[in-house]
Amino acid sequence: MTTSAEPLLKVEHLKKYFPIRTGMFAHTPLRAVDGVSLTVERGKTLGIVGESGSGKSTLGLCLLRLEEPDEGRVAFKGQDIVPLRGEHLRAMRRHMQMVFQDPLDSLNPRLTVGDAVAEPLLLHGIARNRREAREQVKDFFDIVGLPADFLDRYPHQLSGGQRQRVGIARALSMQPELIVLDEPTSALDVSVQATLLNLLTDLQRRFELSYIFISHDLAVISQQADHVAVMYLGQIVETGPTGELFSQPKHPYTMSLLSAIPGFGQHEDHRPVVLEGEIPSPLNPPGGCRLHTRCPFATDACRSREQVLEPIRPGHLVACHRAIANELPSFWLQTSHASTLQAQVLEAEHYLSERRAQITAQSVGSV
Ligand SMILES: Nc1ncnc2c1ncn2[C@@H]1O[C@H](COP(=O)(O)OP(=O)(O)O)[C@@H](O)[C@H]1O
Ligand code: SF4
Ligand SMILES: [Mg+2]
Repeated sequence: MTTSAEPLLKVEHLKKYFPIRTGMFAHTPLRAVDGVSLTVERGKTLGIVGESGSGKSTLGLCLLRLEEPDEGRVAFKGQDIVPLRGEHLRAMRRHMQMVFQDPLDSLNPRLTVGDAVAEPLLLHGIARNRREAREQVKDFFDIVGLPADFLDRYPHQLSGGQRQRVGIARALSMQPELIVLDEPTSALDVSVQATLLNLLTDLQRRFELSYIFISHDLAVISQQADHVAVMYLGQIVETGPTGELFSQPKHPYTMSLLSAIPGFGQHEDHRPVVLEGEIPSPLNPPGGCRLHTRCPFATDACRSREQVLEPIRPGHLVACHRAIANELPSFWLQTSHASTLQAQVLEAEHYLSERRAQITAQSVGSV
């Protein structure tokens, strides 16, 4: 049963282990996603942030069943999609689309981009024939700011920004309710990145879309997301409303990510949290709290005790028993650093509005 109060997507205890060959006959599970629970509300953006290798892409792929989860539940509008097969899976997938970092990986080099977008329209019976599909593709190209004569171009004839618009048009043409955006602008230079972020925001409002926005870039996440989940070694260590999570981070890992923002640490009030060493291998993650090998606040209890997400405020959860017990030193962000981040966001907004004006004045095709 679907009710309007229910989140669009509710994920519970999702796991994905890749068997990695570690000997002639031995395999060791690589715990790419290890017990993730999250929700995505209708019309909202959940940002997922974490270092490279923390499991963000695998999580995104599992949500759409592009990778098969090993365990857990992915309820889309109340229905668990993990057991779905064949036609039922295909029908459900239409409503959940993905945009990848580099659309070149997902565009067939031998197909024109018009045909690449037309194919799924025909496959899902959204268009009855090629002519109808082409008309629909034209409309979606127009929506994402691509001129109609681009339909007959091949992927290599387009710039990175234009290819990403094709990727977005293809996702949008399925009339999805949820789009997983995996580092959608990371491969683009900063001016093109700004126009695409802008486009994504406009499309979200226009089509009432929900987004899962995956990025390692905190500035992008702070600008795009309503809610943020921070991943470390396959697990979510902190999640909360964007403003609160960035201004009052509670987990040492989140604090360390914020400490790494360029310009941070120059003010005498700044007390950065710096982690020791490298991220451990997901083939052999530390027991107890996964951060204990690197965390400056670790105690013996951290080494033996599994951490679970617990609410520290309504809607703000943290997987650190010392944060929950209020044993960690208070974080500087409540004072000086909050203004640094805010200044960055304001700067980004100013930049975006300037770019918006430029784009309106220019032909979009030249972006
Ligand atoms: N198909 C795969 N087979 C084996 N290991 C994989 C596969 N895909 C991802 N991994 C591993 O899973 C971990 C998480 O990867 P990924 O989800 O790509 O992280 P992120 O997107 O955060 O960089 C990494 O250690 C990566 O090497
Ligand atoms: S549980 Fe301990 S090791 Fe883990 S983040 Fe908290 S203080 Fe650090
Ligand atoms: Mg990734």
